[in-house]
Amino acid sequence: MSLLFSKTSLGPLALQNRLVMAPLTRSRATGNVPNDLMAQYYAQRASAGLIISEGTSPSPNGLGYARIPGAFSAAQVAGWRRVTEAVHAQGAKMFMQLMHCGRIAHPLNLPAGARVLAPSALAAAGEMFTDAEGMKPNAMPQAMTEADIKATIGEFAQAAKNALAAGFDGIELHGANGYLLEQFIRPNSNQRTDRYGGSIENRARFVLEVADAAIRAIGRDKVGIRLSPFGVFNDMPVYAAMAADYTYLARELNALELAYIHLVDHSPMGAPPVPDSMKATFRSVFKGALILSGGYDAARAESDLAAGKCDLVAVGRPFLANPDLVARWKTGAAVNAPDFNTFYTPGPKGYTDYPALG
Ligand SMILES: Cc1cc2nc3c(=O)[nH]c(=O)nc-3n(C[C@H](O)[C@H](O)[C@H](O)COP(=O)(O)O)c2cc1C
Repeated sequence: MSLLFSKTSLGPLALQNRLVMAPLTRSRATGNVPNDLMAQYYAQRASAGLIISEGTSPSPNGLGYARIPGAFSAAQVAGWRRVTEAVHAQGAKMFMQLMHCGRIAHPLNLPAGARVLAPSALAAAGEMFTDAEGMKPNAMPQAMTEADIKATIGEFAQAAKNALAAGFDGIELHGANGYLLEQFIRPNSNQRTDRYGGSIENRARFVLEVADAAIRAIGRDKVGIRLSPFGVFNDMPVYAAMAADYTYLARELNALELAYIHLVDHSPMGAPPVPDSMKATFRSVFKGALILSGGYDAARAESDLAAGKCDLVAVGRPFLANPDLVARWKTGAAVNAPDFNTFYTPGPKGYTDYPALG
């Protein structure tokens, strides 16, 4: 019997299977507002048990990339409502991933008046695509003041409320892949000398305060978090205390009783692998649901579920390229390959036109 394709629950939510569509930034939200093309794209993929939306900014300051959606204006909430209605009609549940890009940003991508913020005034290596001028170096961020920190926590809490108003079943905090929350966790990007920097207790404080604020806003069973221990994406080098720091985070997030932790392993994309011992630590320390992701096919998903390594499996590129991934994996049918040239380009090409089985 397949575990992957059998019904389960996530807290109070009934899921039609254990396959999760991983968060995938697709840059189709012209003007940072979700639209009908996005509703069509997500609805095509709503045979998943749970869909996690693309990274969505809780603040104008968090819109580091071109054409990513937000969750802070009435127009954005109205646009997202059309998405969640289309997804729910097909049976999937949907969480909004709240992604504040922090220093992975360029001012040309931000609306007027918005600021590139980070724990410290340290620019990330690497470049950022802008519609106006093509590739540009990541911007030098402003170090957040205590007032900025307070305001940003408030933006996350309000965005969580907005997500529910837009019909989402919950939110996932993007604490992975080098964005603002991870910028606080990691010592290379956080060199603060106040109570938000230095020891892991201090570097974890912002993330835990954001999680706590989100819980207070919408309830602990509606808040998950994505983390990338040992992830190096966006100029985040591995350091000696990595395992100890993330073990601390696992304990503190367990104390908050979050709905789930979602671990990223980008080794299939060329990054160093996440040690199995780190995943096992999260599994034993954290009592909520554990989602694993990265390079899964149906067989590996089935075997990790059967081994009890996780409760749900999230899949990115296969879902991007196969609207009917559930049907294909169930029957062992061939799958479409993803076209990386259209990952982030505007319009339906490489977005809503991947063929489904006839
Ligand atoms: C086009 C693209 C966009 C992505 N956008 C996000 C994102 O917005 N948030 C996030 O947490 N991860 C993002 N990821 C990472 C995926 O969620 C996933 O972890 C990764 O693709 C590895 O899983 P896979 O091997 O199943 O594709 C993105 C990946 C791709 C390929």
